[in-house]
Amino acid sequence: MSVRKEQLSENVVVICGDNREILPTLGRFDACVTDPPYGIGESAKKNNTRGTLAKPNDYGTDAWDAEPADPVVLDWIRSNTLWQIIFGGNYFALPATSCWLVWDKVNGDNDFADCELAWTNLPKAVRRIHWMWNGMLRKGKEPRFHLTQKPLGVMSWCLDQLPAGVETVVDPYCGSGTTGVACVGKGLGFTGVEREVHHFDTSCRRIAEELRRPRLFAEPAARPVQEALL
Ligand SMILES: C[S@@+](CC[C@H](N)C(=O)[O-])C[C@H]1O[C@@H](n2cnc3c(N)ncnc32)[C@H](O)[C@@H]1O
Repeated sequence: MSVRKEQLSENVVVICGDNREILPTLGRFDACVTDPPYGIGESAKKNNTRGTLAKPNDYGTDAWDAEPADPVVLDWIRSNTLWQIIFGGNYFALPATSCWLVWDKVNGDNDFADCELAWTNLPKAVRRIHWMWNGMLRKGKEPRFHLTQKPLGVMSWCLDQLPAGVETVVDPYCGSGTTGVACVGKGLGFTGVEREVHHFDTSCRRIAEELRRPRLFAEPAARPVQEALL
């Protein structure tokens, strides 16, 4: 398939294409923070009845949600990034870990899952965030552009869980670009890959808007330096 690439700033890029073709052409990253398709067809069933999208039916194709993340991509992530946060990790074959990130959606009694789980390889204990995401009752009231869009506050919190010194983040399942917006907000480099042109365009627009926003920080956090032993 043809590949489009938008270099949005010196260290922020979004690529439109199939991640199985794109990832082998990229280098290594400090961290992967991603939200792959879980393969449960969720987008086609319940979420699209909720009426919270920015515009009705403005979500591109939902065909991607029929298949879970390709194990080849998960292997690439495990081999080419130091730290990993992978949403839907409970649907994929990943090793035992001490640290799951738990997003409690505070969504009351209904047939939606109470929480979403992100598998990590972080050297810490389980962490949890409460962030209401229940139809129109959503903390933050962010406009919705993607059927399985993650809240910006949840993705920013995920980045806060990464060890100090992370400077570059990759999201091979970029969707509407929420991870990228969160990275820009924290002064981190970001590389996103998204196969659907519609979502790629949304990602570029949202991340470019975030890059234009005046920010309070000047530099990313300094990488800790190992002192020489005398
Ligand atoms: C769960 S959604 C990500 C939503 C995102 N976290 C957000 O907040 O908008 C997964 C995305 O991965 C994309 N995708 C699925 N398979 C892909 C592939 N092989 N290469 C690139 N993107 C893919 C889908 O088009 C979909 O937009």
